[in-house]
This record gives sequence, structure tokens and C-alpha cells, in this order.
Amino acid sequence: MTLLTATSRVRQMKLAGYFLAVLFSGLALWVRFELGAALDGFPFLTFFVAVLFSALLGGFGPGILAALLSGLLAQYFLIDPTNTFSVQWPSGWLAMSFYWGTTLVMVALVNGMTRAYEGQLGARQELRELNDTLETRIQERSRQLEVEMADRQAAESQVRQLQKMESIGQLTGGIAHDFNNMLAIVIGSLDMAKLRLTGEEHPKVGACIDNAMGGAQRASVLTSRLLAFSRQQPLAPQAVDANKLVSGMSEMLRRTLGEQILVETVLAGGLWHCFADTSQLESAIINLAVNARDAMPEGGKLTIETGNAELDDRYARSHEEVQPGQYVMIVVSDSGTGMTPQIIERAFDPFYTTKGVGKGTGLGLSQVFGYVKQSGGHVKIYSEIGEGTSIKIY
Ligand SMILES: Nc1ncnc2c1ncn2[C@@H]1O[C@H](COP(=O)(O)OP(=O)(O)OP(=O)(O)O)[C@@H](O)[C@H]1O
Ligand SMILES: [Mg+2]
Repeated sequence: MTLLTATSRVRQMKLAGYFLAVLFSGLALWVRFELGAALDGFPFLTFFVAVLFSALLGGFGPGILAALLSGLLAQYFLIDPTNTFSVQWPSGWLAMSFYWGTTLVMVALVNGMTRAYEGQLGARQELRELNDTLETRIQERSRQLEVEMADRQAAESQVRQLQKMESIGQLTGGIAHDFNNMLAIVIGSLDMAKLRLTGEEHPKVGACIDNAMGGAQRASVLTSRLLAFSRQQPLAPQAVDANKLVSGMSEMLRRTLGEQILVETVLAGGLWHCFADTSQLESAIINLAVNARDAMPEGGKLTIETGNAELDDRYARSHEEVQPGQYVMIVVSDSGTGMTPQIIERAFDPFYTTKGVGKGTGLGLSQVFGYVKQSGGHVKIYSEIGEGTSIKIY
């Protein structure tokens, strides 16, 4: 802190400055009396100091007051003839004019100096404030940019994911379609062969044909799941009351999933109707329920919830293929192991499974995905390790 900053507060209090001017002038007179004969011939000397301090602390007005007052005090008490304000002509007038002239210049100089200094301080303060606001604005803008970038990255990864699903879908769809045609020939021929059995063949022939038929039928189920993923299965959409569908399934799910798993349904009131293939929707819910059971080997809670949902523009922007609008939502949640982000990213891929050989084919979620897409809907996984999983179908 400098002398000028320390005194700037006094300068701002106007009355205090004038009071100080009177006080300093009185003090200067007192000092002058104390020093007595030592300063004879210099009646104004101590008053210069009083004027200087008054101007410094009080500013221009108090400085001028101190100059006038001290001149009068000097005239009254110190200059011959004393005890009167009448000034001798010409020597008294000359001295007084000189004193007032110099003190006026002094006050003006001190005032100019303090003004300039205060102006500089103000400018510095303004600069600091500008810097601060600039900094907060930069921070705000970078935060906005970060959010925009995250949105964009999410949308880009969605597009990549969709493109990948699209090309896998085309590939598997093509293969499954041809394969299905060939299987129709195999199954037809096996049927014919069985009809033509006369009973005189080797006893194992009949069993062999049955085995072949079993294999071909399993292959046919597999191809129909692949066709479901590649959105090529025949669908018969109709108006569906999802509440009715879910409550109709809950008893069957309770029985299939076993006692260890508590099945709960939360059905929304005033639910809209949706347009979908009922039996495929049922099979999608069963697929999700079976996955939930597999994620809860020690038991747990499975919740199937329905609701009306509005997917807005912002959601549609970060999920490339979603059309904003009103949807009926079915959520299947479990309190199971949850999935890592890596598993979530690949869960819809056909043949992607984390289950052991012979336990999972990795087609369940692919089928759900293909069916939902073919029906013009949207499916989304929310999951946290150790917390559980929620899969929402719109
Ligand atoms: N509710 C869930 N909780 C935890 N992980 C899940 C859940 N649902 C799916 N997964 C994970 O996603 C993978 C893929 O699931 P998907 O249903 O496609 O195949 P699967 O269940 O392994 O085999 P399939 O359904 O053909 O018998 C699963 O292997 C599992 O790792
Ligand atoms: Mg599954």
C-alpha cells in the first residue's frame, strides 16, 4: 500500500478533509508559537506543511481552505501589526500574494497528482475485472464446447454402431435367407424319405432320419432368429395394449424363471396403444427376461414396467436413427450383475455372448434389436456393474 492509496479513503470523505484542513492550520500555528524566535522573519514557513498535508489528505477544496486560513492566521498572529487582519501596503500584500500564489500552485499540483494516481488505480481495477469476466466467459464457452463435443462423439459412435449392425444384418440376412431355402428342401426331402420307409430297411435308418430332422429343425430356428436380426422376418403388426400383454405374461414368467426371482410389473395408467407384432413382442420380452435371469444366478428382482414416453429432439440428435415423437415404452430391469460399457457396445451383435459354450448363442438381443428396428422403434441399454440392467424398448 502506498501513501496515496492509504490516504485515498480520507479524500473520499469530504467533510473530514475540511476538518483536517482547519486542524492542520491550527497545528501549524501552534508549532510556530512553540518554535518562537527561531523562525522570526519566516511567518508562513510551518503553514506550507499544513497546506501540503491538507491537499494530500483532503484534496483540492481542503487544500485551498488551508491556504486561505493559514494566510489569515499568519497575518493575524505573526505579521506586524499583529492582532489585526489589515495588511500593510505594499510589502504585506506582496508577501500574502506570493504565499497564496505558491500554495495555490502547490495544491493544484498535489491534486493533479492524486487524481492521476486514482485514475490509474481505477483503470487497473477495470482491467482486472475485464480479465476476470473474460476468463469466466472462456471457461463457460469451453464447458459448452465440451458438452457439444460429447454429444457429437455419442452421435458419431451411434452412427458407427448402426452402420456396423446394418452391414452385419445384410450379411446374415442374405446367408440366413439362402440357408432357409436349402433347409426347406432338406426338411421336405427328409419328410418324403420317412413316408417312403417300408419297414424292411435297416432299423437304424428311421432313427437317422429323425436325428437329421431334429438337426434341420434346430437350424431352421437359428435361421429364423438370424432373419429376425436382419429385419427380414414376416411381421403382422396390430394395435397392442402393452399393459394387457405384460400382465398376461407375468404368470408364465414367474413359473419359468423360478422361485428365486421375484417378478414385478409396474403398469402405467392411461397407456397409449402401440402398433406391433404381438407374438414377436412377447418373444422379445421373454428374451430380455431370460437374460435377466442369467444375470441373477443367486436370485433377485425382475421388473417389467410400461409407460408413455416422449423422445424429444435432443434425444433424437444423440441417437441418430430415432424419430422424435411419442412412444410406448416397455422397460425390463433386473438387479443382476450388470454389464461393462464394452459389453453394452457389443451386446446387440449377433453371436456375441459372454456365456459359456452351449449356454448362449448370442442371438437373443440381436433378435430383439432387429425386431424393434423393423417395427420402427428404438431399444436402449442402461446398465451398471453390480447394480443391474434396464433395457428400454420404445
Ligand atoms: N440383463 C443382463 N444383465 C447382464 N448382462 C446381460 C444382460 N442381458 C444381456 N447381457 C449380456 O449381453 C450378452 C448378449 O446377450 P444375448 O441375449 O444377445 O445373448 P445370450 O443371452 O448370451 O445368448 P442367447 O440369448 O442367444 O441364449 C450376454 O451374453 C450377456 O453378457
Ligand atoms: Mg439372451
